[in-house]
Amino acid sequence: MSSQAERAQSVGRVVQFEHFDATGMAVGTLPGREGRTVLAYGVLPGERARVRVVRRRRGVLLAEPEELLIVSPERVPPREAHYLSCSPWQVLAYPAQVTAKQHILEELFSRAVGRQIQVDAFHPSAHGFGYRNKLEFSFAAQEGTLRLAFFVRFGPSRKVALENGCALGTEAMNAAAEEVMALLNRARVPVAMLKSLVVRQSRTSGDVVTVLFVRGEEFPLKEFPLTRSAGFVLAASHPESPASVLGKILHQQGCVELEEDLAGLRIAYPFDAFFQNHVELFALALDRIRSYVEPVERIVELYAGVGVIGLALCDRARSVLAVESTASAVLYAQRNAQRLAARQYEIVPGTAERVGVELLRSADVLLLDPPRTGLHPKLLNKILDARPPRILYLSCNPIQQARELALLREVYELVALEGFDFYPQTPHIEALLVLERKAEAAAA
Ligand SMILES: C[S@@+](CC[C@H](N)C(=O)[O-])C[C@H]1O[C@@H](n2cnc3c(N)ncnc32)[C@H](O)[C@@H]1O
Repeated sequence: MSSQAERAQSVGRVVQFEHFDATGMAVGTLPGREGRTVLAYGVLPGERARVRVVRRRRGVLLAEPEELLIVSPERVPPREAHYLSCSPWQVLAYPAQVTAKQHILEELFSRAVGRQIQVDAFHPSAHGFGYRNKLEFSFAAQEGTLRLAFFVRFGPSRKVALENGCALGTEAMNAAAEEVMALLNRARVPVAMLKSLVVRQSRTSGDVVTVLFVRGEEFPLKEFPLTRSAGFVLAASHPESPASVLGKILHQQGCVELEEDLAGLRIAYPFDAFFQNHVELFALALDRIRSYVEPVERIVELYAGVGVIGLALCDRARSVLAVESTASAVLYAQRNAQRLAARQYEIVPGTAERVGVELLRSADVLLLDPPRTGLHPKLLNKILDARPPRILYLSCNPIQQARELALLREVYELVALEGFDFYPQTPHIEALLVLERKAEAAAA
């Protein structure tokens, strides 16, 4: 059947949803002989819903619920009208979110290692909302007024205008975003000139830094009298690229770096570098990571960012050698190490997949914390070749992490698995794996 005919047939079809898949979408089956799988956000396991198919992906139908016919006892009202864009689990009671995430992790990693395993711990968040330290808004024009907006899920060109910013960030972050919007509206800046507004906040100082990405290098506004942002950057981003990629800085004011105190360390980072979004739980993750590392000669850390994890482990090794690809993050990691007098810490610019096997072989402990895409296949092969005795692998994409574990298990035993709810109201999970080289693999 053509996908168009399939879509037409499945408008208003009733689907019973059974469970979550690993991405946190509810899974149901379209009635009828074909029994097509339907995935949807905004609907929960146990619920029956009339759905509208919005897209077909690799043989399954992605749908949006139009009407709930049976409602789960775990359902709660969403806090925001735009919740499907930013955090589709807003309709699931928080204790049920935690249970579901733990279950997802156990399923993923049991499959990866070929035996039933349980998480050693799953750490919930103390705050369901206001936990993010970074928000990225888009823009929409409504009746001649610019509004903060998010993209509609599965409809990349459609946007939803926001009522009051986003509840995943703090009031101060949303107020800073609205202040920038007021400036743009007063100057009647056309929406076509704007790309995104990134708002970041230090949990330690409360300072907010805003970054306005615009299309092209000409911008009508030259002055930005902002009281809610301690620092502000106006930056050009490539007009054709969908992502906001930092281009020429057109204007900068105030202090555009942020600082956090965590794990007893003061860490600074620049407005354009990665920093973990949930600072309180990241601090806990650092404690847990430290608990798995005995004093050793050498730690090697790949995907180091501004150095937080490696610096938190400096008292555990004679030397910590870190690798990171973003130049500004490397610079700040060096500065952080200097300020902390961490003489055993060294960071070098580079990509993880290009490190030498010898460097990996020199590690007593290898720390990994890659972006969502996971480890480069070249790096995986080098790890399997070098076989460092212990690996600690933190990931925001346990689906990919489990795929990699299925390869690493040839040489490594999974000795611990912990989950952290860095992203409440969303199905995303942060997972920490501790792997130990198998005794028989050492001699190979
Ligand atoms: C998930 S972040 C982790 C950063 C750091 N460990 C932390 O917790 O703050 C991933 C980091 O990997 C860096 N990165 C991305 N691709 C890389 C690559 N191929 N080689 C080395 N670093 C990379 C990014 O710039 C980012 O800083």
